[in-house]
Amino acid sequence: MTDSLAVAAPADFHVHLRQGAFAAFLAPYVRKGGFRLAYVMPNLRPPISNTEEALLYRAQLQAADPTIDYLMTLYLSPELTPDEVRKAKSAGVVGVKSYPRGVTTNSDGGIESYEAYYTVFEAMEQEDMVLNLHGEVPSDASTNTCVLNAEPAFLPHLRKLHARFPRLRIVLEHATTRAAVECVKSLGDTVACTITAHHLALTVDDWAGQSWHFCKPVAKYPDDRQALRDVIKEGHPRFFLGSDSAPHSPHTKSTASPLHACAAGVYTSAVLLPLVAHLLDSFGALDRLESFVSINGRAFYRVPVAPGEDKVFIRRTSGKLIEEQLVQGEQSVVPFWAGNPIGWEIVD
Ligand code: NCD
Ligand code: DOR
Ligand code: ZN
Ligand code: ZN
Repeated sequence: MTDSLAVAAPADFHVHLRQGAFAAFLAPYVRKGGFRLAYVMPNLRPPISNTEEALLYRAQLQAADPTIDYLMTLYLSPELTPDEVRKAKSAGVVGVKSYPRGVTTNSDGGIESYEAYYTVFEAMEQEDMVLNLHGEVPSDASTNTCVLNAEPAFLPHLRKLHARFPRLRIVLEHATTRAAVECVKSLGDTVACTITAHHLALTVDDWAGQSWHFCKPVAKYPDDRQALRDVIKEGHPRFFLGSDSAPHSPHTKSTASPLHACAAGVYTSAVLLPLVAHLLDSFGALDRLESFVSINGRAFYRVPVAPGEDKVFIRRTSGKLIEEQLVQGEQSVVPFWAGNPIGWEIVD
């Protein structure tokens, strides 16, 4: 039995680091969770929608923790023009995230139709920028669409975009279904897929009535979870970790009311590498840890481990519990599986 492991510069290819004082509090937990690279989501209020805002946001994150490699994204909106795409690329912005309107946290400005953005996608394809898709369609009673089938219903859009822009690198974010895994596998090398840690653990039963496990996309059926586990176990190179770690202040998670639903998001950043090791270990895929958290995503995004960068060491532990809450002054957040035992820890 493997009792310790060294992992090359773990990279989280989908993380929400928020803004202002909350971001300053959260950013250092990327490193504490074992990670060295953060691919940062743009769904702030207001969203990060141009190059200038992305660079300012990156500077704020660097001030909070300069040891992390922050890769920045823009929020797809009518403000984004082909010229802005070229400007963003030359400033080092890596990707553009598309949210369908109203589907999740701060997505009111999300897209309604992809065709309106074809000139933007063309520029992104030419500039070799990455398109990150939140792969859910909005709920719609008239088509029997709800959170359980919103992801499969999105997949035709992915197929169509890939057919129209075959050289555009596209990432289907936070896949939760067997249908999504099979779809991505069937497409070309320019299409990849992120998988979160929590979707390797949860199914519908775990979030129905449990607000801390509620996120978008929601965790689906046991067979869907099995497909996520299997594609990691198989070591498919176009599937890699994007935690979708999505912190919310505890009161917005724990107090739903007839007027306010609870916020969508599971916070995993602070415990991420031990958590992923624990989960992969639980389904016999520990030997895929390094490819899942470092090699595959870095290859797709072409961000190799810097020469001389130290490995991160983890070891097996017993009787260790995930912290109940992380607090600093006025800021606080509750990690996924708070108070639960975890089988791995980082060696400092
Ligand atoms: C459609 C698609 O991409 O298939 N998108 C959508 O309805 N959001 C049609 C389109 O491209 O506009
Ligand atoms: O659960 C989620 N939370 N899903 C998302 O897509 C966004 C995220 C957030 O920003 O809170
Ligand atoms: Zn998303
Ligand atoms: Zn997200």
